[in-house]
Amino acid sequence: MKSALLELSYLIGSVTFIVGLKMMGNPKSARKGNLLGAAGMTLAILGTIFLFEKKTEDGAVVADHVVPGIIYALIFGAILLGTIVGWLTAKKVQMTKMPELVSMFNGMGGACAALIGLMEYEHNLHHTGALATIIAGMVIGTVSFSGSIIAYLKLNGTMKQPIRLPQYNVINTIVMAGVVLFGAWVVMTAPSMTFLYLLFAVAIVYGILFTVPIGGADMPVVISLLNSFTGLAAAFGGFLYDNKIMLTGGILVGSAGTLLTLVMCKAMNRPLSNVIFGAFGGGDAAAGSSSVSGSIKDINVSDTAVLMNYSKKVVIVPGYGLAVAQAQHVIHELETILEERGVEVKYAIHPVAGRMPGHMNVLLAESNVSYDKLVEMEDINPEFSSTDVVLVVGANDVVNPAAHNDPSSPIYGMPILDVENASHIIVNKRSMNAGYAGIENELFFNPKTSMLFGDAKAVLTKLVAEIKSL
Ligand code: TAP
Repeated sequence: MKSALLELSYLIGSVTFIVGLKMMGNPKSARKGNLLGAAGMTLAILGTIFLFEKKTEDGAVVADHVVPGIIYALIFGAILLGTIVGWLTAKKVQMTKMPELVSMFNGMGGACAALIGLMEYEHNLHHTGALATIIAGMVIGTVSFSGSIIAYLKLNGTMKQPIRLPQYNVINTIVMAGVVLFGAWVVMTAPSMTFLYLLFAVAIVYGILFTVPIGGADMPVVISLLNSFTGLAAAFGGFLYDNKIMLTGGILVGSAGTLLTLVMCKAMNRPLSNVIFGAFGGGDAAAGSSSVSGSIKDINVSDTAVLMNYSKKVVIVPGYGLAVAQAQHVIHELETILEERGVEVKYAIHPVAGRMPGHMNVLLAESNVSYDKLVEMEDINPEFSSTDVVLVVGANDVVNPAAHNDPSSPIYGMPILDVENASHIIVNKRSMNAGYAGIENELFFNPKTSMLFGDAKAVLTKLVAEIKSL
């Protein structure tokens, strides 16, 4: 009876994961989806604690098995501690620090998978199949753990520069092959625990070597990849324990992480190998392609205010600079005041604008911009030709026409927002400096473009005041 109830709790938990994940696909339902998944997970954890029955090898329930009270005390003590630490950290974290929080949580998941391997090894020395599962889960979880810790240190600024040893690609490939061969040897020969600890140590080293060469700005892609590793490691745990919810959860995290990694790479038009082996984003940016020449025209706040005030349709393109300047609230104010004056306002959202997946959606949601005003790239591109003014705020690469026109550009082939088709283009940034890809942007030299220089928050605040006074 208990076993049946436990299986039922796992089934319900698995369904909540799948439905919750689906709900996370839409900003309106994302919060509820997250809570639904968490509720399913809580049910499965409580089910495991109270309904688990010890069984013999042939599947019969051990009737007189009693779990000592101290075990319950330890389990609930750990849950309480984890809940308090996790809750407080997540509550306090600033939006811009989200990627490092995700990488820390991900690292903890990898560590759990690694601990399962370390604990279960000696109980399964005579089952080659189980050993293979244990070693695969432990190695992948360990790589994810140490890689995520390095990612965390990079994102919080402790490790500022990527560390690239001479021939680091060759070294990494050799160490990776070494880990795989060593792991296979452990599975085949089931040696003493000392060798398992040695394998654990080598996997830690590989996770570090894998992550240290990657440039800071490429970390979101790597975090998502490490996330999929953690999912895979958890799925191996599910196989080992024949635990359906670990399996479902692990597979969902593994596949969602892999898909997200691929989507980001596609939106940046860079193969994953290029992110991992570093082409730009690490300070040694490919210094651009063909040189861009011409003259630029600048515009002041008053003229911008007049132009926008008398437009029918304005599209705002938010980018990384908007997040840096923390100008999300004032941009919402600008949108509101323009709409009050009968101007139609929309936001054009590029999939990799900013520095993490969904960065712009999250940032604008923080200032209560209505979701239906956020229009994705494929849907907004046809609308630029009927737009009077495009206001680009702290965005650069995602509006760079070199992606269409210059085969020698590192971003050639990357899908971009076709802002050139609008009647007027106003670009707000602080200088003529390049964006993340480190390349010039010919959009700034387009006769239809006017540069509105200055910090996004300061400039937009003045612009709002100016429009109010019209
Ligand atoms: P970027 O191309 O990085 O350009 C941002 C611009 O913002 C810079 O040119 C900078 O110019 C300006 N800026 C910085 N601080 C500012 C401030 N306080 N006020 C006004 N402007 C400011 O950004 P993007 O267009 O959003 O493109 C994102 C890039 O990141 C893409 O290349 C993408 O591939 C890459 N990337 C994205 C992700 C994800 S998942 N989103 C992950 C990894 C990499 P000034 O210095 O002149 O002000």
